[in-house]
Amino acid sequence: MALPPEFLSELKYRNDIESVVGSYVNLRRRGSNLVGLCPFHNEKTPSFTLYPENGSYYCFGCGAGGDVITFIRAIENLDYMEAVRFLADRAGMQVPEQGYDDSAARIRAQILEMNRAAAHFFHEMLLSPQGAAAREYLAARQLSPATIRHFGLGYAPDDWTGLTRYLEGKGFPADVIVLADLAGKSKNGRVYDRFRNKIMFPIIDLRGGVIAFGGRKMPNDEGAKYINSSDTPVYKKSRNVYALNFAKNVKGDSLILAEGYMDVISLHQAGFENAVAALGTSFTSEQAHLLSRYAKEIVVTLDADAAGQRATARAIEILNEAGVRVRVLRIPDGKDPDEFIKAHGAEKFRLLLEDAGNDIEYKLLCAREGFDLSAESGRMLYLQKAVEILAGVDDAIARELYAGRLGQEFGVSKDAVVNQLRQKRSRSQARQSKQQLRQIVAPGKKRDEVNPERARYPRAARAEECLLTLLMYHPDLARQSEEKLPPDHFLTRFHRRVYEQVLAQSQTGVPFDLSLCGGEFTPAEMGRIVELQNRPFSKENAVAEWKDCIRVILEEKEKDNAPAPADMDTEQWARNIQKITQRKEKPHG
Ligand code: UTP
Ligand code: MN
Repeated sequence: MALPPEFLSELKYRNDIESVVGSYVNLRRRGSNLVGLCPFHNEKTPSFTLYPENGSYYCFGCGAGGDVITFIRAIENLDYMEAVRFLADRAGMQVPEQGYDDSAARIRAQILEMNRAAAHFFHEMLLSPQGAAAREYLAARQLSPATIRHFGLGYAPDDWTGLTRYLEGKGFPADVIVLADLAGKSKNGRVYDRFRNKIMFPIIDLRGGVIAFGGRKMPNDEGAKYINSSDTPVYKKSRNVYALNFAKNVKGDSLILAEGYMDVISLHQAGFENAVAALGTSFTSEQAHLLSRYAKEIVVTLDADAAGQRATARAIEILNEAGVRVRVLRIPDGKDPDEFIKAHGAEKFRLLLEDAGNDIEYKLLCAREGFDLSAESGRMLYLQKAVEILAGVDDAIARELYAGRLGQEFGVSKDAVVNQLRQKRSRSQARQSKQQLRQIVAPGKKRDEVNPERARYPRAARAEECLLTLLMYHPDLARQSEEKLPPDHFLTRFHRRVYEQVLAQSQTGVPFDLSLCGGEFTPAEMGRIVELQNRPFSKENAVAEWKDCIRVILEEKEKDNAPAPADMDTEQWARNIQKITQRKEKPHG
């Protein structure tokens, strides 16, 4: 099943982790390691660490970790074999053809092929007599035939099985059609089209694959305005951005973030081909990181209503954390970009775009709306609010600049504003660093997804972890371990799987190699394995510690097998109670 170890070590050698990761993350040297801002979660101080020595990385903030293959899987959103191919291409190597399980990649390829066929079907339907009303609707919204073609727009007929019959006719199995979320399955097993009587928007990824669809209801129809594909093996909506496949080719380092399909399409038609949209979700940090690879600046133009303002505030925060500059384009009269362009034309929109202020100006502007600035008290309150906003700005020069402007506008000295600002900042910084510390010390009460049984067997799990770390560096202890402690004595399943992997690898006699377990573990699990690999352990007392670990695990296993308390005799009860009370009293005595 697995790829040959020689191939994997060659792959790793030719894709040196420092240069691969370095092309996504700005790395700085710290001792023998390198550190940078983690690309997998938002942070302001680097907790992403690269260990060139053993070819791994680990983020102390979010627990992401693994080898170079895991990194590519996570950042490019690929499965294991696709990541291997990606790196092989990068290094000009051939992936050996036999000996691995490719079924997940095969299904993905099949879904992509099928989605393409579906997009073709919808497009043909739009051009057919059945699509007359949809064509009229799009014409009324002023989309040209060229735009319709460019975006591959289509029409899903008002039919429960139109698409399904078409795809089955092309040889795609019903199960795969359901898996791609093009069809649903009723309780009695009937397969029916998910998109009926809808204008169809294919969603295309950066490699040109049709990964999903959005469907808009026809004007005379009922129900939600839009329905969208849910996540499938080829689509994760929180990681994709509509029209980035086109927008990424536009020169310049700026993108426009709009709210929906129609806004993006009108913007492109009006010449703003750098417009993209988040897909029927609130904007995510994964999307922000994706955009940050193509743009240094994002102009946010979401709806002007209350929900839109909240979404804008959130998008600003997420984009700031992803390290992109933000400007906000506010459209007058509560219109969206599509409506504005239709009403006033592309040139007027271009002026708005040029005029769009940065995120700080936007926040100050929004804050103003809440106060009556003609009254002294209103001005005071606004100033307070404004100082609060500026205190959250990390760029010192920007803080100074706006403090000066505020002072000027409201007739107070700049120094007074700056002083206020300094106080607010030091207080909020103290709070922030305390929060960060708390997160590191007690990383949340979140459910442990990788090893859910850890919570049930904490003592055993700690011993298991310790043992695994030891064995990674002492393959010589593996054989004896296996004799004393067969894998089925492990109490937590994830550790048992790692144990089996470590034992299997130990037969070569060399220390544990992360890249030899890639295919069998998910990226999240790989992160945990790196964590185990990088745990401190005492080299001098290895054997004693090893014995302790085994003893503890055996004890816990015994307890787990032990009869429930109801079966204990009274004498045993008494002894137990005594033990517990003694332990309690000790610290006082
Ligand atoms: P809007 O309601 O602003 O629609 O939703 P729109 O883009 O202006 O569409 P038109 O102009 O009325 O045709 C913005 C985006 O939010 C998502 C879609 O991605 C949409 O493009 N949305 C909206 C949904 O996913 N479901 C809905 O029911 C509504
Ligand atoms: Mn609209």
